[in-house]
Amino acid sequence: MRLIDGKAISEQVKQEIAKEVAEMVGRGEKRPHLAAILVGHDGGSETYVAAKVKACEACGFKSSLIRYEADVTEEELLARVRELNEDEEVDGFIVQLPLPKHISEQKVIETIDYRKDVDGFHPINVGRMAIGLPCYISATPNGILELLKRYEIETSGKKCVVLGRSNIVGKPMASLMMRKAYPGDATVTVCHSRSCDLVKECQEADILIAAMGQPGFVKAEMVKEGAVVIDVGTTRVPDATRKSGFKLTGDVKFDEVAPKCSYITPVPGGVGPMTIVSLMKNALLAGKKAIYK
Ligand code: GUN
Repeated sequence: MRLIDGKAISEQVKQEIAKEVAEMVGRGEKRPHLAAILVGHDGGSETYVAAKVKACEACGFKSSLIRYEADVTEEELLARVRELNEDEEVDGFIVQLPLPKHISEQKVIETIDYRKDVDGFHPINVGRMAIGLPCYISATPNGILELLKRYEIETSGKKCVVLGRSNIVGKPMASLMMRKAYPGDATVTVCHSRSCDLVKECQEADILIAAMGQPGFVKAEMVKEGAVVIDVGTTRVPDATRKSGFKLTGDVKFDEVAPKCSYITPVPGGVGPMTIVSLMKNALLAGKKAIYK
């Protein structure tokens, strides 16, 4: 069994980005600028956005954090999004999700100019990804592709099972694993809460990607000997022995599943750190106007 070290790979990618940014700035080009809008004080969102700001520093990007209280109106937020769309200083930006219930996430996403949508959530980017056109690919699936690539894991012709059908992970992941490319060219099955033979599907998977947000859902008997297991789960499970009061818990029962795997990602330190550097890679592409002029 080989552990996929997302933390180490993410450090490597950040260094690669920082080197490229230093070269750009050295040539007199503009330093890439990523902005983030954070609404309210959700613990998870605070942590993720702080990590994104820190990653920007490590990569040599300029970053701006724009905060609103949870009672901001939808119109006020949309107006700020439109301002950022027009702001030539800002190359790309994100609105951290989830948003308070009175604000339509879909409306916010669709208001972002797709050319600055470094999260890759806008329907134009999702659609372009689905048909294999240049676009911003959402961070978590792209981070997983990067791990498969850096560990030179074979995907062509493999049976890949994706657990979960979210817009952010499950659906784009399935789409990317079936595309004509490496990593990709896999035979993909998507399982979800209504799937009948989920256990049997998992048992046949050469590559199992668990992204349903149910701590410890994947058990040893569900995994084929020699499978590659990618754990996207990051549920905060209460743990009184920790200073934070919680333990970040994956969708896979790591201790019993790991001995059966050829490769497996841990939680934390697997997919999580890659998600953040994938956003940085998109911000670099935005800074270079590499995808959209
Ligand atoms: N909430 C959870 N993951 C993400 C992400 O990748 N981007 C944004 N904007 N919000 C999120």
